Amino acid sequence: MDQFTQPERPAFARWLGGTNDVTHMFLSAGNGPDMINMAGGLPDPSVYPVAELAAIARDAVAKNPRDALNYSPIEGLPALRDAIAARFSDENLTLTRDNVLITTAGLQGLDLLGKVLIDEGGLIAAHSPTYLGAIDAWRARLPAYRPFNPESNAFDAVAALKGAQFAYTVPNFSNPTGRLIDLERRKALVEAAHETGTWLVEDDPYGALYYDGDPLPRLLSLSGAMRPGDTPYSGPVVYMGTLSKELAPGLRIGWLVAAPDLIAALTMAKQGSDMCSSGLTQRVALDAFAARLPERILPNILDLYKTRRDALCAALAEHLAPWFDFEKPVGGMFVWAVARDPSFDTDKLLKAALAEGVCVTPSSVFDVEGRNRRAIRINFTLNSAERLGEGARRLALAAARVAAA
Ligand SMILES: Cc1ncc(COP(=O)(O)O)c(C=O)c1O
Repeated sequence: MDQFTQPERPAFARWLGGTNDVTHMFLSAGNGPDMINMAGGLPDPSVYPVAELAAIARDAVAKNPRDALNYSPIEGLPALRDAIAARFSDENLTLTRDNVLITTAGLQGLDLLGKVLIDEGGLIAAHSPTYLGAIDAWRARLPAYRPFNPESNAFDAVAALKGAQFAYTVPNFSNPTGRLIDLERRKALVEAAHETGTWLVEDDPYGALYYDGDPLPRLLSLSGAMRPGDTPYSGPVVYMGTLSKELAPGLRIGWLVAAPDLIAALTMAKQGSDMCSSGLTQRVALDAFAARLPERILPNILDLYKTRRDALCAALAEHLAPWFDFEKPVGGMFVWAVARDPSFDTDKLLKAALAEGVCVTPSSVFDVEGRNRRAIRINFTLNSAERLGEGARRLALAAARVAAA
C-alpha cells in the first residue's frame, strides 16, 4: 500500500442516503452578487438593532461575566427561563421555569424532540407541506411520516394525531405555505391532542409577524384553557419559539415550552448535544427582553415586510400569473405559488431560474417523499421592493422556458 492508498473505510450512516441535493443547489448558488435570492427565510439585516445589541453584549460580559462566560445550566439561565414562562403565561395558563428549556435556536428544539420521541420507524404526523429544516433535523432518526393538511375540508384532527409519537405544525404563517390555521382547526387539533395523548408540537417562529388582522390564539394557550388550574402546565402542547425572526438569528436563542417531564427528557438530550446554549447570548436575550427590545423594533419590521409583501404580490400578479396561482399571506415571510398545470415541474424551474439569476425554493424539499413538484416558496423579507420586482420578472422568463420545453 503506498502512502496515498486508503484501506476501505466504514460506510457513512444509512440516513445520509435520504438527503436531497436541491437544498445544496440553492444554498450554494443563491449568493452571487447578481443573484436575486428569494429562496431563504432570512430577515433583512437592516432591522437588527445593532447599537443596542452591542451595548447589551458589552454589558453582559462586563457586568455579568458569570452568566455570560461560564457554562450555564443545561436547561438555560434560570432568569431567562422565568422570563419565557412569564411571557407565555396567561389567565388560563400558568407556566413556571420547569416548563422551559432554552435551546440553541429553534432548529435545536426540533433536533432534541426527534432524539427524545423518535426511535427508528417511529411515526411523526406532519403538517404538510412540512418545514424543510424539521425534515432535515429528524432525518437521522429514520422516522415514518403521516402527512396531514389542516386546511382540507375533510380534515379529521383525531385521525391525524392518533398513534403518532408527535404531530408537528406551524400554525402561524406556515413554512413553506405562509398560511394560517384558523381558530376552529386550532381548537380541533388541541382537543385531539388532549384526547389521543399525542404530543402536539407548535413551531412558532413567525407568530409576531402579523401584517393584517389580530393574532389568533396559540395552541398552547388553547390547551391551557382546557385545563385551568393545571400548575405548572402539564398538557400535550409543545411550544417552540426563537429570537431569530423577532430580533436576530445570529444570537441562536430559542425555547421549548412543555410539560415538565418532557422538559426533563429534552434536557437529557441537550446534555449530549451541546451541554448548554451560549451563556453570552442567553444573557443578551435576557437583557434584551428586560429592555423590551423585540417589542420596540417590531413596528419597523412589520412596516418594512408588509410593504415588501405587497410589492412581491403585485409583481407576481403582473409577471407570473400565466403559470402560477398564489394567495397574499396575512403575515410571515413567504408566498407559496402553485403551478396551474399539475405537470409543471418546479425542480426544473429552479435550474432555469438560477440561469436567469433568481433563486426560489421548489416544493419537493417540503415533501417527505420529495414528490410534490408543483409549487414554489418565495421569500419577500430579504430584498427591496425593486429587487423583488426584478426577481419576479426573471422568474417569469424561467417559467416560460420550462413551460415551452
Ligand atoms: C418553521 C420554522 N421552524 C424553525 C426554524 C428555525 O429557526 P432558528 O433555528 O433560526 O430559530 C425556522 C427558520 O426558518 C422555521 O421556518
